[in-house]
Amino acid sequence: METIARRHTTRHYLMCPPTHFDVTYSINPWMNPGKPTDQSIAMDQWQRIHDQLVDLGHTVDLVPPLPGLPDMVFAANGATVYGDKALVARFVYAERDAESPGYLDWFAARGLSVQQAELSNEGEGDFLAAGPWILAGNGFRTDRRSHVETEEYFGRPVIGLTLVNDKFYHLDTALSALDEHNIMYFPEAFTRGSQAILRQLFPDAIIATHEDAEAFGLNAVSDGKHVLMPEGAANLTAQLRKAGFEPIGMDVSELLRAGGGVKCCILELHDEAPAG
Ligand code: ARG
Repeated sequence: METIARRHTTRHYLMCPPTHFDVTYSINPWMNPGKPTDQSIAMDQWQRIHDQLVDLGHTVDLVPPLPGLPDMVFAANGATVYGDKALVARFVYAERDAESPGYLDWFAARGLSVQQAELSNEGEGDFLAAGPWILAGNGFRTDRRSHVETEEYFGRPVIGLTLVNDKFYHLDTALSALDEHNIMYFPEAFTRGSQAILRQLFPDAIIATHEDAEAFGLNAVSDGKHVLMPEGAANLTAQLRKAGFEPIGMDVSELLRAGGGVKCCILELHDEAPAG
């Protein structure tokens, strides 16, 4: 990828404080309910992510955390939102089911047209805007048939990508969109066919190493210039700098006990439907 002066645009995000954060069940390989968690550390890590976004000039709204839902901090999974339309998640695991009404109510109260997905669909955890496309993960959580549902609902082309490594169970753990044209990803998290699609669409992408992916470095949020990401992904950080981006490393050690990082905590509300 070329080194050029990157420009950011101000964004609108939705987050959910980890008031009820805990690991009481295991639905991904990072979660071990036998190990104690520290809610105050999680809150501190989350607050730093929130404040960093605000300092960069972005608008951050909050959805109220609901008791008994320890994973609700991972707001990226709540919905996919473009313009005035929200498609709210249908979670695969019963443990997270009750989060959906919280998002349905929040978007409805703001006058968006809201629908809950018919089939398993974990929101922006698996649906990421990249230029004119929506890149969509499947394999562990979102049902491939829900890609069609999303395409119909928004009238945007969806590119399906299949995940194969259960440590990288959502698309946003294996791939991150940096701006309209650029992405970074970990090829081995995808089937060969999906790797070929990614090479065709994004020949200049930044390629993550296994260490980057293990450090959750792809669970990142970019505003076109600043890239908030879990700290520790050394190779990715260096490549981003070289390409003119400004990586900002965040400590997410406690959130990672639930299998979540920076991006998982942030749902982007694309106030303008993506250009295309
Ligand atoms: N414990 C949560 C789960 O497994 C973590 C969700 C992470 N979110 C994300 N967007 N990758 O559902």
